[in-house]
Amino acid sequence: MRTLVIGIDSGTQSTKALVVDVKDGKVLASASESYDLIAGLPAGAKEQNPADWIEAVRKSIQRAMAEAAATPGEVKAIGVSAQQHGFVPLDKAGKVIRPAKLWCDTSTAEECREITEKLGGLNGAIQELGNAVLPGFTAGKILWLKKHEPENYKKLATVLLPHDYINYRLTGRAVMEYGDASGTALLNVRTRSWSPKTLAAIDDELFNKLPRLISSDQPAGTLSQETAAILGLNKGTLVSAGGGDNMMGAIGTGNTREGVITASLGTSGTIYACAEKPIVDPKGEIAAFCDSTNRWLPLLCTMNVTVATGMAADCFGWSVAKLDEMVASTEPGAEGLILVPYLEGERTPNVPNGTGVFFGANTRTMTQANMARAAMEGVTLGMNYGLLRLAELGVKPTQIRATGGGSRSAVWRQIMADIFNAEVVTLRVSEGAAYGAAIQAFWCYENSVGRAIGIDKLSAHFVTLNEKEITRPRAENVARYQKLQALQNELSQSLRPAFELHSKLDAPQTPES
Ligand code: XUL
Repeated sequence: MRTLVIGIDSGTQSTKALVVDVKDGKVLASASESYDLIAGLPAGAKEQNPADWIEAVRKSIQRAMAEAAATPGEVKAIGVSAQQHGFVPLDKAGKVIRPAKLWCDTSTAEECREITEKLGGLNGAIQELGNAVLPGFTAGKILWLKKHEPENYKKLATVLLPHDYINYRLTGRAVMEYGDASGTALLNVRTRSWSPKTLAAIDDELFNKLPRLISSDQPAGTLSQETAAILGLNKGTLVSAGGGDNMMGAIGTGNTREGVITASLGTSGTIYACAEKPIVDPKGEIAAFCDSTNRWLPLLCTMNVTVATGMAADCFGWSVAKLDEMVASTEPGAEGLILVPYLEGERTPNVPNGTGVFFGANTRTMTQANMARAAMEGVTLGMNYGLLRLAELGVKPTQIRATGGGSRSAVWRQIMADIFNAEVVTLRVSEGAAYGAAIQAFWCYENSVGRAIGIDKLSAHFVTLNEKEITRPRAENVARYQKLQALQNELSQSLRPAFELHSKLDAPQTPES
């Protein structure tokens, strides 16, 4: 009989399930189910129904199990990864009160300002939490509910994050592990405990609404009878602590020891490293998260990556392959056309009111191919802004492990190598977060049966590089992109007053205005 584990990654666009054979780390089957954001919400609001994630978890597990011809007894453990920061509010019966506000929701800028002020400004917040309180993180969303939907807030009994909610539905237990909990901006990452000052800035009773914290090597629980029957698995199957998608992506890309850096190019762009101690950015731009192996994960997040390339493809009616072909047909630097890529607003730098701006438009540069290249380059330059900040904090890359949708494109890998000025490699399993969830599940299972093993040993055994896709920087392009980086940074700064004015365009007129 085989020993199998299941890794789930519940993202903003879809949920994936992988069935993995632990003998050689081979992915035997993979299935994915898509869903949408809730349509028609006010600007900046990004929400989903947690029930859609649960349905997608069910369908993708069932399909992957069938494809792997797996029997319930072969599956020893399940690990769950999901989008970070989303706020799933539960009432005292454990029912979802309203849709979840997601990581990419920027409607809570005012609430974040309020909490930051109560912590004594940015420096006070960094001192208290290790992190700035940014729109996107969960803290602002909780205060938003209290202020904007007091009736719903009255019903709030438990605050969960997306992966905690999936764990809760699988096991019946509500817990939070350190990695994802650190993205709430309620946790002091240095002590891995809730920050009383931050909780009090939102609600004196908030502590009682937070689930118990567990360390990442502990199980969240085991499959309940009811869920096991629905999924066609055995009651009592172990469910590991799980974590946010970046924390699990770290495990799935072998980023479980110092010196490795991962770049994940999905809806969001993230760059992160494993650290033995918290790495706190005094400017609050690099997030000082905990990881999901009981260490830390300094992380840069931009909100716009495949959002921008997808927009270009949609505008011109292109497939992903056609987009790549068009980008490859143009020169690095898109003849001087550059995209400031804040299509959904931006977290790093902190410009929640930002928009996309094409700069350098003229009759020569404004071609479809240049616009597509400028989109791919613009978002990569946006990520590099954070990579340069990470380097200032002492985390310097020599090699970058690329994962997520964008890592599958050869032309994008060259752009990454040239902009990051580092060797870029890909991994045999490109679904880093789901694979990391499977590895963490196995780690937890081995611990539970008395075969304690280090997660770094396990991930080194499971994760292998795709030697044939190693991409090295080209000196002439590196120099070109350094100039474009300076230009994008300058544009980003100087456009901020204009973004502010733009955000007020549709505000109601007052007699004085
Ligand atoms: C990271 C972040 C995003 C989401 C995407 O802080 O907000 O990467 O986790 O799912």
